[in-house]
Amino acid sequence: MSKTALLKLDDKEYPLPIIEGTEGEKAIDTRQLRVTTGHVAYDQGYGNTGSCESKITFLDGDNGILRHRGYPIDQLARYSDFVETAYLVIYGELPTSARRKEFGLLLRKNAAVETQMQKILEGFPTSASPMAMLSALVSALPAYYADLATNNFEKDLQNFDQAAAIAISKIRTFVAMIYRYQKGLPFIFPKHELPFCDNFLHMMFSDPYQEYVPVPEVSKALNLVLLLHADHEQNCSTSTVRMVGSSSANLFTSMSAGICALSGPLHGGANVAVMQMLQSIHDEGDDGSRFIAAAKSGTKGNRLMGFGHAVYRNFDPRAKIIGDACDTVLTRLGINDPLLAIAKHLEQAALKDDYFVSRKLYPNVDFYSGIIMRAIGIPMNMFTTMFAIGRSPGYISNWHEVASNPKGRIYRPRQIYTGATTRDYLPMAQRG
Ligand code: CMC
Repeated sequence: MSKTALLKLDDKEYPLPIIEGTEGEKAIDTRQLRVTTGHVAYDQGYGNTGSCESKITFLDGDNGILRHRGYPIDQLARYSDFVETAYLVIYGELPTSARRKEFGLLLRKNAAVETQMQKILEGFPTSASPMAMLSALVSALPAYYADLATNNFEKDLQNFDQAAAIAISKIRTFVAMIYRYQKGLPFIFPKHELPFCDNFLHMMFSDPYQEYVPVPEVSKALNLVLLLHADHEQNCSTSTVRMVGSSSANLFTSMSAGICALSGPLHGGANVAVMQMLQSIHDEGDDGSRFIAAAKSGTKGNRLMGFGHAVYRNFDPRAKIIGDACDTVLTRLGINDPLLAIAKHLEQAALKDDYFVSRKLYPNVDFYSGIIMRAIGIPMNMFTTMFAIGRSPGYISNWHEVASNPKGRIYRPRQIYTGATTRDYLPMAQRG
């Protein structure tokens, strides 16, 4: 017999069904609550609301567990690469060798960007935010691939494989183009024979007279950074993708909205904010205590960037992997980045401080990812766009779940209205 919870309201009892996930996660199903009781569930920021059922990522924030399609993140980080993990996140299984080749080929075929789209980019001032440029380019994709982006789920799902490959491959190319455009450098075309990450580095750093060939450590580090961002359950931007997708919007449009959500400093923009914080500690010759003291003031604008997480209350498993990788990558590349030492010192100081300990605030993935990206040669203003490349498989697979759910509904939360009650319109002359 299925379990129920009992809600008592004004002496009346209402049974509410309990839903249980495959990892034992339990939820009280409140979908009929308003109809049966006249009440809605109030949960500002949805922090305690299951907005969907999903088979993609399992996250247990209390125990620092993250698994994609059942595979623990540390195993994927150790044995997989970004493209294989992207395939896993999107299609639900690790690819066979034949499927891996097909997927790689589809990504390669869709790497180049139309000349017309280059003109869109050239319409931006070079000082524009790279995330604004990226979301604009992605939102323009339906204009160039109208037959894959019809805003009709049935039709769009028939062309899903190609749309997914376009999204992943072109977002990477867009990021390289944005970098070069801002630097006043000519665009470099993708090379068909290069692996995904090497091709990105080629489009970023080659010039017409000298090809950039990354050392294996750099390719590996880039793969790791992207892989660690591949998906992360119902975070702000992925939920945005699902919300926009639920209106029957096509994949590209939904992803563009997700990229906008990612740009904020409390989400994807945190990796930039962390580096700015570490840099100013370095420039001021401070030991970080000023930032720690300010963060403890409790005001949002002073938070210790790269610390805390909406879901992890123990540690962020991605932070541990990337923190360890920082040491290895910098050592192998012979780089001595003073910001790494500052980050480590800051982490130790915060972890000894009762403010952070009592609130269970630990470093998150963004605390160290900027240091690795800097070692690879990615400039700070491009960090959040790197997060967007990495997160593209998560956006794609979440959109697919929405589009292929025959019982799906448009996302439409309720609210508790706290504004003025009804009043009569006053003509201008009577307003004082
Ligand atoms: N520095 C100082 N205080 C903090 C911080 C921080 N980084 N994060 C949370 N707090 C405080 C918060 O003010 C609250 O204090 P109090 O109980 O006295 O009111 C308490 O800790 C609990 O906060 P919370 O409910 O855990 O925080 P949240 O769920 O509202 O916010 C967060 C989560 C990630 C937005 C927040 O921790 C933060 O702003 N961190 C810094 C930005 C950052 O690194 N973001 C990247 C997140 S990981 C990448 C991603 O998925 O986007």
